[in-house]
Amino acid sequence: MNIQTALRAPVAPPLDAAGKFAADVVAGLTNKPKSLPPKYFYDHAGSALFDRITRLPEYYPTRSELGLLELHSAEMVSLLPPAAALIEFGAGSSRKARILLGVAANIEAYVPIDISGDFLREDAAKLRRDFPHLAIYPVAADFTVAAELPPEVATRPRAGFFPGSTIGNFEPHEAAAFLRHAGRTLGRGDVLIVGVDLVKAPDILYRAYNDTEGVTAKFNLNLLARINRELGGNFDLATFEHHALYNVDKSRIEMHLASTRRQKVRIGDVAVDFRAGETIHTENSYKYSVESFQALAHGSGYTPLKVWTDGLFSVHALRNTAD
Ligand code: AVJ
Repeated sequence: MNIQTALRAPVAPPLDAAGKFAADVVAGLTNKPKSLPPKYFYDHAGSALFDRITRLPEYYPTRSELGLLELHSAEMVSLLPPAAALIEFGAGSSRKARILLGVAANIEAYVPIDISGDFLREDAAKLRRDFPHLAIYPVAADFTVAAELPPEVATRPRAGFFPGSTIGNFEPHEAAAFLRHAGRTLGRGDVLIVGVDLVKAPDILYRAYNDTEGVTAKFNLNLLARINRELGGNFDLATFEHHALYNVDKSRIEMHLASTRRQKVRIGDVAVDFRAGETIHTENSYKYSVESFQALAHGSGYTPLKVWTDGLFSVHALRNTAD
């Protein structure tokens, strides 16, 4: 569905992915202040740029988390029940799950949940080669809504995995709602392992989102390029600047795109006006202390079991104790 049909329909029809993107973009750009959802960063080009971000010298989260998983995987896995199914929320590539699977004789099934079905199936094929005894059931779904698990894993004890500090993209109340959803997808008594970026010196955070190579700027601007490609937009990328700042009061990195001049942009037949200096808020990346995240988890029906940290990043094991 194109943007025009998506917006003109008198009674909202069920929107396909393209229609949802169009509707979210127009809603975001007519908001005051303007905003766009960060989940749309990850088209093919955006995923490749994010992959480059994870290897930047300034961007410590991925390296830190991989280090923690490598170092403590045996202990993490020892908290999971025998014959467990590992459910990964927003799996993307299984790079991090592989670290757990490599040491886990007790994980017999793996259920990656991700919106990108093609990517999931490709990755599952590779995993099947590398872990021939593992049962793999990819689920193509939006992991932020309680997902129906494949019947094959319904009878197994479950464990959840949510790495990458993706939870930081949510507002704290949304993060709490996500944890509750995940708890219902899992079950009472089940363990959730979640990666969370830590509050730290603002200059370290600032540099992680303002790399000298400008890859994060490209990643941010790709959102406008994607709107041009998929929705017939005419954003001139040369007239928008990447801004990333650490908001100390809210413990979050904010990313914005600022129009360097007054201008009118068209997206299909929708026109959007920008004042000189006007910004589009494209992402929040919340940072937690170990204590503030444990408090959030506790309020969402979990008992903290164990936390591993290198001072920059944290990996929490939580037990779902909600009824
Ligand atoms: C994938 C949401 C964890 O917030 O650090 C990286 C995304 N944005 N650089 C993050 C991101 C800019 C990343 N998360």
